[in-house]
Amino acid sequence: MTASVPVITLDGPGGVGKGTLGRHLARRLGWHLLDSGAIYRATALAAARAQVDLEDVQGLVALARDLPLRFVEAGDETQIWLGDERIDIAIRSSDVGQWASRIAALAPLRAALLQRQRDFRQPPGLVADGRDMGTVVFPDAGLKVFLTASVEVRAARRLKQLMEQGSSANLATIAAEIAERDRRDRERSVAPLVAATDARVLDTSQLSVAESFRVLEGWVVDAFGEIFVRQSAGI
Ligand code: DC
Repeated sequence: MTASVPVITLDGPGGVGKGTLGRHLARRLGWHLLDSGAIYRATALAAARAQVDLEDVQGLVALARDLPLRFVEAGDETQIWLGDERIDIAIRSSDVGQWASRIAALAPLRAALLQRQRDFRQPPGLVADGRDMGTVVFPDAGLKVFLTASVEVRAARRLKQLMEQGSSANLATIAAEIAERDRRDRERSVAPLVAATDARVLDTSQLSVAESFRVLEGWVVDAFGEIFVRQSAGI
């Protein structure tokens, strides 16, 4: 039944704007949103808390299977809970991002998290953001988008974000971390970061969020038809 629920996949490297664009798009269409990176990040955080080694595949798989992870829609925000702890902020640290990227290279762990991601496919539709949404998790998605942007642009965006949150950071350090995570995500043998052959590619380096969103909206109409999109968005 759920296979007939429409899906839009947004894949690409970290800092490319998937999260922001995915949130806008899901809200505009009235669809559900899957932030798959948050699932990998939450698993990495839970492993650190439980002192499960990042190379202990069996331990990580067991942890992932029983992960008490919940995404709670509350008004405009999505709260992320691990058991009775809210982890929205904790999972965004760059350490957790690096750990997530390391455990994400383990095939058994990815397999253990697959169904949890597919379960997000609920009516009226799903916008799914990650690295392998279009290639592995939802290969039959009606629209697949692969976002790119240069490392320099992504590092500058991340620095701005950190400064807005009151944290200080160094552009060169952030760029090095981004490049390192890109390399690991691209070079892994299982579900590597790569555009699906039938994905539309959008380079956001020179585009504002609003400009990127306009391009995306056009592609959504191309893929699903204007009437369907209007009905979905209630306009
Ligand atoms: O999108 P993000 O930065 O929150 O993702 C964190 C890490 O999780 C990323 O470096 C690789 C991994 N990841 C993945 O392997 N597959 C996904 N679908 C999403 C994230």
